[in-house]
Amino acid sequence: MGDGDDDDLAAVPSGPVRVRVPAKINLHLGVGPARPDGYHELHTVYHAISLYDEITARPGDTLTLTMQGLGVGELALDDSNLVIRAANALAATAKVPAQARLHLRKQIPLAGGLAGGSADAAATLVALDTLWGTNLGRDELARIAATLGSDIPFLLYGGTALGTGRGEAVSPVLARANRWSWVVAFADGGLSTPKVYGELDRLRAEGRAPAPLGSSDELLSALRQRDPAVLAEALGNDLQAAAISLRPQLAETLAVGDKAGALASLVSGSGPTCVFLARDDAHGADVAAALTESGLCRGVQLAHGPVHGARIG
Ligand code: C5P
Repeated sequence: MGDGDDDDLAAVPSGPVRVRVPAKINLHLGVGPARPDGYHELHTVYHAISLYDEITARPGDTLTLTMQGLGVGELALDDSNLVIRAANALAATAKVPAQARLHLRKQIPLAGGLAGGSADAAATLVALDTLWGTNLGRDELARIAATLGSDIPFLLYGGTALGTGRGEAVSPVLARANRWSWVVAFADGGLSTPKVYGELDRLRAEGRAPAPLGSSDELLSALRQRDPAVLAEALGNDLQAAAISLRPQLAETLAVGDKAGALASLVSGSGPTCVFLARDDAHGADVAAALTESGLCRGVQLAHGPVHGARIG
């Protein structure tokens, strides 16, 4: 999947390389049964929104990671961190020494259902591909990304894209250019993605899960129509019932958005972040005010999508 962005990967830089990477939401998240490898077969429509993390890569003698922002003191900065794993995977593939000083500025919450850790890994691949002059380009980086996590390939491309397999196989959605207004409501604490998938399996086994989503055709057609009211009707997330089962308060957050006139209210990915579709930014500000006033959220932010994936600058 080429997006014409590879030009910015061509030259070896003299200074630090800074890469900004967005969060993702899922406009459609259809979850199939668990596979023998433990993953679930997905049929999803990813959408990159204007909430960003940033990775800065500088030359170094070893591989180090520092950070600021959300998750300081909580997020391990050792070999278990997806940033370090991405750096080592790129170095191994390109056969270069894994040497860099990496700094992460984090605004996307941890375990929030917005793929923040995956975003950081995608940003690291783009930054080091430039710093190290390996120039693999996005499609080759996406192959490495797929070995690291299901959402990481999408975050290299951004925009709106179809995800299949366990989510790692991405192809762009050729929607007419549009700017959708979202309100993002952050919750206190995170939700473990494996636990949310496990909860969905349990609810389904007990016959307590809503009917699984059908195909994403309606969503794809809604994207082409550019009418937020039409898009609102087509949004869906099979993980939502499981996230609410583990965190019942999310139902209240969604209800506040509905009452405030959001066109649609849904859990983002595996949660606990909730997203709300607004007619435009002014309408979004009204919905955001109601969510803030409810006292149910750790923070509320306006965002728009689609935006680019990980890119320098
Ligand atoms: O791929 P990633 O490491 O981001 O996935 C985290 C966890 O989420 C997996 O270990 C698995 O439990 C769950 N998952 C899943 N099916 C998917 C994607 C993720 O069950 N398609």
